[in-house]
Amino acid sequence: QWTTSSIVEEQIKRISDQIGDGRAICGLSGGVDSAVAAALVQRAIGDRLTCVFVDHGLLRAGERTQVEQDFVSATGVNLITIDARERFLDALAGVTDPEQKRKIIGREFIRVFEQAERDLKAQGDYKFLVQGTLYPDVVESGGGEGTANIKSHHNVGGLPDDLQFELVEPLRLLFKDEVRRVGLELGLPETIVQRQPFPGPGLGIRIIGAVDQERLDTLRAADLIAREELTAAGLDRSIWQCPVVLLADVRSVGVQGDGRTYGHPVVLRPVSSEDAMTADWTRLPYDVLERISTRITNEVPEVNRVVLDVTSKPPGTIEWE
Ligand code: XMP
Repeated sequence: QWTTSSIVEEQIKRISDQIGDGRAICGLSGGVDSAVAAALVQRAIGDRLTCVFVDHGLLRAGERTQVEQDFVSATGVNLITIDARERFLDALAGVTDPEQKRKIIGREFIRVFEQAERDLKAQGDYKFLVQGTLYPDVVESGGGEGTANIKSHHNVGGLPDDLQFELVEPLRLLFKDEVRRVGLELGLPETIVQRQPFPGPGLGIRIIGAVDQERLDTLRAADLIAREELTAAGLDRSIWQCPVVLLADVRSVGVQGDGRTYGHPVVLRPVSSEDAMTADWTRLPYDVLERISTRITNEVPEVNRVVLDVTSKPPGTIEWE
């Protein structure tokens, strides 16, 4: 019978069989999937698991502390944090094509894990790489039979060809709601299990145009305001996620104080969904939209316009890239 506790038991057994007495690295993104995958593997192999949190500079405000505090205190897992901001920014410089961005980010993640593996050599060989890949990630990356490649999820279609690790992917057959139930069963706190999805490639695929430090700072500031206002309005559990997207190559004329502005638009993309395979745009209350718009245009000088995405999936996808 396909109950949550039977999924947990079966996966722990499979992981133990696969890894044997070996060692594994798990990339933590701060999201639900990698946290649940790590917690499962920890049950199976204990402290032969080391989690690696890569700060790729494409994170939202507060993300790094959240992983370092919440996840570690809930699980007691071994965690190392690697500052790879410069490496990712250099690799992404001038790149505008969404698939190319995804492949670069996927590749750089692996290069950082390889470096971590070399750094950890003294403890033993880390041959396995744990990923929180879900069923929809596989399908949308064109991994299922007869499925089209919609976009290469960083941990599936974005992997380099010369990958040295053997992958451990205990969530590969599950949907997000099942992963959340597994997380609760494993005793992870609600603050982790109920988090809204955030893509591994982070803000890198929410800047339409080339990624650079200044654009990241602009988007991070706008995103934080949107999240603060949605949380204050008590809407976190009723929306699936709300990407904030910076149209970095678009400018429009505005007026602020008594001066002309020529700034960038950001797009709010609130969606409701069961499994991210399809989605509807969320009808957010007008007063919440107004607060987000007023605050972003007042507090983020580079942004002079806030627009709302009212497209379902299909035909739109949730992320713009
Ligand atoms: P799309 O944009 O394909 O997104 O409708 C579906 C869900 O997947 C998330 N997403 C990703 N998650 N790595 C991830 O870990 C990725 O490369 C990736 N791309 C999209 C997205 O946020 C949404 O929840």
